[in-house]
Amino acid sequence: MRVRLKGDAICTLLLVVALCSLLYTQLEHFTPKGHKEPTQKQPSVTQRILSDPRAPGRPTPAEATAARPQLIPTVRRTEAANTRVQTTTPVPAADSAFNFKRYLLNKDNRNFNLLINQPKKCRRTPGGPFLLIAIKSVVEDFDRREIVRKTWGREGLVNGEQIQRVFLLGTPRNRTALATWETLMHQESQTYRDILLWDFMDTFFNLTLKEIHFLNWAAEFCHNVKFIFKGDADVFVNIENIVDFLKRHDPTEDLFVGDIIYNARPIRVRKSKYYIPETMYGLSIYPAYAGGGGFLLSSCTMRKLSRACREVELFPIDDVFLGMCLQRINLKPILHEGFKTFGIVKPSAAPHLQTFEPCFYKDLMVVHSLKVAEIWLMWNLLHSPRLSCTQKKQVKKPFQWKRKAQTATQASPLR
Ligand SMILES: *[C@@H]1O[C@H](CO)[C@@H](O)[C@H](O)[C@H]1NC(C)=O
Ligand SMILES: *[C@@H]1O[C@H](CO)[C@@H](O)[C@H](O)[C@H]1NC(C)=O
Repeated sequence: MRVRLKGDAICTLLLVVALCSLLYTQLEHFTPKGHKEPTQKQPSVTQRILSDPRAPGRPTPAEATAARPQLIPTVRRTEAANTRVQTTTPVPAADSAFNFKRYLLNKDNRNFNLLINQPKKCRRTPGGPFLLIAIKSVVEDFDRREIVRKTWGREGLVNGEQIQRVFLLGTPRNRTALATWETLMHQESQTYRDILLWDFMDTFFNLTLKEIHFLNWAAEFCHNVKFIFKGDADVFVNIENIVDFLKRHDPTEDLFVGDIIYNARPIRVRKSKYYIPETMYGLSIYPAYAGGGGFLLSSCTMRKLSRACREVELFPIDDVFLGMCLQRINLKPILHEGFKTFGIVKPSAAPHLQTFEPCFYKDLMVVHSLKVAEIWLMWNLLHSPRLSCTQKKQVKKPFQWKRKAQTATQASPLR
């Protein structure tokens, strides 16, 4: 009996020791990197990040906070109000291993061949098109291109103005995943005459190359265009509103309009997808830049930018790179409330609020992060002859105190 008790005690003791050593090794494993590398500066916790909805697997601020409880920031109230670009450090994306050394070494390699061109794109209409829609896409996203062609990216007349369209593409990163990609590109080009394909690998960090090459292409092959809309394929664009807005502007004057981000700070956290070391960008804030989801520029600004960007060093975040080019020509981009390139922010107090509402989209210009089916549906709802927004709102609000309240609800939510 005593022997068995003793044996049990020894067993328990051994187990406890094993558990402790296991805990110890785990703890050491979880020590933040910054502690092991004294050379690395402790990152500022309240970083202003480029919260880019294009980034796959990017966690919501809440998720990021939950995943890294030791990094809960003490955000000042004024900063917290600006939630759109203000979040905690994002959890690193799995494929975010970005080789800065190699990027810096290859930085001067910035001229790539145009494999598929549309040299006559802007020559079909006398005097040139009113608006050129240029959409960033990747070869694999055939379905996205198709839906854009059928909906807001249609070529032809909108409110009496001629619209033309091009897709901007590089070569696929994984060529074995879509073995027929070259045939597909040539077939699409023949069918739709809207493919521009350059000979660089289509990766997130090569989007700056896309920006440069597109501006150069536009200056050479589309100098007679009046305005350009450049954006992503996962946005909904109210092209009628865009045309109406542009009709009030002069294409021979400077114009750059979008969802402008001011005073964004470079991310100095190594694990972030948007990490930028000080050797690459030494200043503490980025110049004002437009969210890449969609923005407008005049013909005049396009020509100036295409020249200016040639003199700016390559920078791996394309939106910021264009901001640097804008700064170089001393042009202040204009913020327009109708550009929701970070998606519609639902108020936290009313998360059930229906934002997929055609009457709401009727007053917007660009909304980011829509699924293929949502783009199709929104376009059809907005173009339905039965759509009557003022009536709908009256039905929803059958009781009103006074006339003033009624006019307020009928007014567009965003100018
Ligand atoms: C490329 O795609 C193929 C087929 O989808 C896949 O098996 C392969 O792992 C991919 N390669 C890379 C490097 O991602
Ligand atoms: C950009 O494209 C070039 C040419 O295809 C390629 O060599 C390079 O690795 C790409 N860079 C990045 C960061 O993906």
